[in-house]
Amino acid sequence: MLNKQLTILFLTLTLILALFYPTALAANLETGAKIFEAQCVGCHAGGGNIVRRGKTLQKKALQRNHVDTIETISALVSNGKNNMSAYKDRLTEGEIQAVSAYVLEQAEKNWKN
Ligand code: HEC
Repeated sequence: MLNKQLTILFLTLTLILALFYPTALAANLETGAKIFEAQCVGCHAGGGNIVRRGKTLQKKALQRNHVDTIETISALVSNGKNNMSAYKDRLTEGEIQAVSAYVLEQAEKNWKN
């Protein structure tokens, strides 16, 4: 009897997780988009780079420059590089992850929309 109840509880929890995981992911990308608009768009509008032409946020450039994963992008955003300043004192770890996920997602979509 108890076993059955536990099974039902477990299945319900799994269902809830499965239902809300994509929503959480989308919310994170939305946060990332907002941060991008506030902090990055000045130099990287439309996935470009007005300071260093070869260092855009287009998929090809990210791959060539080895910043094409959430880990490498968030490390660059945290610590900055050359003319790009560090964001670790301005954004939380979560915000840096969110904006990095957004950059990757947009690069996959060629920055269209
Ligand atoms: C003041 C202008 C400026 C701002 C604002 C800025 N960046 Fe950058 N970004 C740069 C420059 C310059 C580089 C090239 C760094 C180098 O020399 O490798 C760069 C490089 C990058 C790269 C690597 C691109 C490549 O192809 O190598 C990523 C990813 C990136 N920026 C993301 C961001 C994000 C996310 C934000 C906002 C949190 C941001 N940048 C804000 C100027 C800026």
